[in-house]
Amino acid sequence: MNKIIDLRSDTVTKPSAEMRKAMYEAEVGDDVFKEDPTVNELEKFAAELIGKEAALFVSSGVMGNQLCLNVLTNPGDEIICEKNAHIFNYESGSPSALSGIQIYPVEGNLGVFTPEQAEAAIRPVSAYYMPRTKVIEVENTHNRASGAVHPIENIIALKNVAKKYNLFFHLDGARIWNASAATGISVAEYASHFDTISCCLSKGLGAPVGSIIAGSKEFIDKAFCVRKAWGGGMRQVGILAAAGLFALKNNRDRLKEDHEKAQILAQSISANPNLKVNLEAVQTNIIIFEPLKMTVEEAQTKCKEKGLLLSAGTATALRAVTHLDVSFEEIEKAKEIMNRVFS
Ligand SMILES: Cc1ncc(COP(=O)(O)O)c(C=O)c1O
Repeated sequence: MNKIIDLRSDTVTKPSAEMRKAMYEAEVGDDVFKEDPTVNELEKFAAELIGKEAALFVSSGVMGNQLCLNVLTNPGDEIICEKNAHIFNYESGSPSALSGIQIYPVEGNLGVFTPEQAEAAIRPVSAYYMPRTKVIEVENTHNRASGAVHPIENIIALKNVAKKYNLFFHLDGARIWNASAATGISVAEYASHFDTISCCLSKGLGAPVGSIIAGSKEFIDKAFCVRKAWGGGMRQVGILAAAGLFALKNNRDRLKEDHEKAQILAQSISANPNLKVNLEAVQTNIIIFEPLKMTVEEAQTKCKEKGLLLSAGTATALRAVTHLDVSFEEIEKAKEIMNRVFS
C-alpha cells in the first residue's frame, strides 16, 4: 500500500532512528531542581546559537510565546502585532486568559507591517484610561502568510520604533530556522534585534516536542518561575531535550531542501488553472492556495481519498507544508494527485 503523503504541517514528522537513539541514551535528572544535564546542555547550546544570555526549554511554541508576553507585561497592557499573527489567531485567546493583556492587530502585507503602522498603533502615555502599549511582536517566518520571511530591514525599522517608545520587541520565531535557511542571515543576527524570542524544535527541525525561549538572564529567571506556575515544570525531561539538541545540531542545514520541495509543488499549483497561489509568498516551506472550483473541505476529502493530506490554511484556502518526512518522489506524487483532483 502506498504511504499517505502528509503535508498538513511540518509538525507531523516522527523522530528518526538516530534521534530516538539520542533520546534513549540521554542522561537525565530532575529539571525542576535544574539537575537535568541534557536540558542544561540544550539550554546552553541554544542560548549560544541564538546569541542571548540564557534560554529555557518549554513544552510548545504557544507556551514559549505566552511565557514571553507574560513576563514582559502587566495586566491591562497591549501588544501590537500583525493581524494574521499566530499569537492573535491560534493561541486560544491566551494573552487575555493567561496574562490579562490585549492585542492590537495591524493589517499587514505577507505578515509584514510598517514602522509607520506600528507607531500609529502606540497608545499615548498621557491617556491613562487607554491600555498601555508594552510590546511589538513580529512573526518570522509568517505561518498564515505562506511562510513568508520578514525582511531584516523592516525588523530593524520596527525595533527602532520599539526603542523610541521604550517598548519590548518580541519575535515569534517558531520557524526562524527556515527564515535563516532562506536568507543566509543567522538566527543570532535575527535575534539580536529582539528582547525575547520563542522558537520551535518540533516543526521543520523534526523534534517530537518542545520550544526554546531566549533573552536576558533576568528575563529567563522570571520565565522559569512562570513556567512552573503554569504547570510546565517537567522532571526527567532530558529524554525530550536530547531530541531537541539532536534537531538543532543535525537538522538545520537540511531545511533548504524543504524549501526546494515547496517551490516544486508551488510551481505545479500555479500552473493549474483551477488553483490560485501567490508565488511571491512562497519563500520557505509553506504553500497557501485556493481551490477555485470546490470548497476547502471537498478538496481535502478528495485529496485524502487519493492518499494526500492537506490542511485548511483559512476558510477558503488550503495549506501544504513540506518537511523532512516527505521525499522529492512524494512531492511528485502529491503533484499528480493534485492535478487529478483539481482537473
Ligand atoms: C508561527 C507560530 N507560532 C507558534 C506556534 C505554536 O507552536 P505549538 O504548536 O508548538 O504550540 C506555531 C505552530 O504552528 C506557529 O506556526
